[in-house]
Amino acid sequence: MKIAIIGAGNVGLALAQGWLKAGHVITLGSRSPESAESREKAAALGAAVTTASHREAAAGADVVVLSTPWPATEETLAASGDLTGKILIDCTNPLAPRLAGLTHGLTNSGAEQVAAWAPGARVVKGFNTMGANIMADTQFPNGSPVMLAASDDAEAKAVACQLAEQIGFEAVDAGPLRHARYLEPMAMQWIQMAMVLGQGRDFAFGIVRR
Ligand SMILES: NC(=O)c1ccc[n+]([C@@H]2O[C@H](COP(=O)([O-])OP(=O)(O)OC[C@H]3O[C@@H](n4cnc5c(N)ncnc54)[C@H](OP(=O)(O)O)[C@@H]3O)[C@@H](O)[C@H]2O)c1
Repeated sequence: MKIAIIGAGNVGLALAQGWLKAGHVITLGSRSPESAESREKAAALGAAVTTASHREAAAGADVVVLSTPWPATEETLAASGDLTGKILIDCTNPLAPRLAGLTHGLTNSGAEQVAAWAPGARVVKGFNTMGANIMADTQFPNGSPVMLAASDDAEAKAVACQLAEQIGFEAVDAGPLRHARYLEPMAMQWIQMAMVLGQGRDFAFGIVRR
């Protein structure tokens, strides 16, 4: 699959690294694709990884992964061109400055805002309720971390779930896109536990069943 990473930072690079190993073709979208920093990021992942503008990266991709800081998301989507028909995996969290809370929630969500900013895109909320370090290494001694995927597009959600499973997550259908209203606060809970309450970053949410 051709995957464009729009916002190749902590999250985008962690996911790209796993998907490369799974055989996917990765393009890193950047505001400065020709810069030494962008080229170094791509080279560190592997010789086959290319850099491009957001628009070029998205145009050539089957799946577009959105992993920008929230304040940059609207502008980045505008720079990404027409995403009609593309699977758009929204990993962002609409964090307020200084982690004061979420800018969207309970009656709306960042993911629904993303869908409004990218009309026609097949938006899936996912990969937002765990740290980038977990995306980079999903191995735990006592189970698999869960990737909860919310979307109104069943096929797009299935693709996101397959991509999650390929890098070691248990992928679970979390319902329609509006359920991002619950997934984004869950991310904030992870952040609070990791960064404020002293858990550190080496934990993830998982599901036990009987
Ligand atoms: N970090 C985590 O553990 C984690 C976990 C789950 C979800 N998230 C969410 O995922 C998203 C990305 O997080 P991250 O930590 O990966 O972000 P990041 O590393 O800070 O930034 C990702 C990339 O976005 C681009 N970018 C940065 N500032 C920008 C700006 N002002 N305008 C346009 N592009 C800009 C940069 O790429 P270029 O310079 O190449 O354009 C940067 O490498 C956020 O919404 C975050 O809340 C983060």
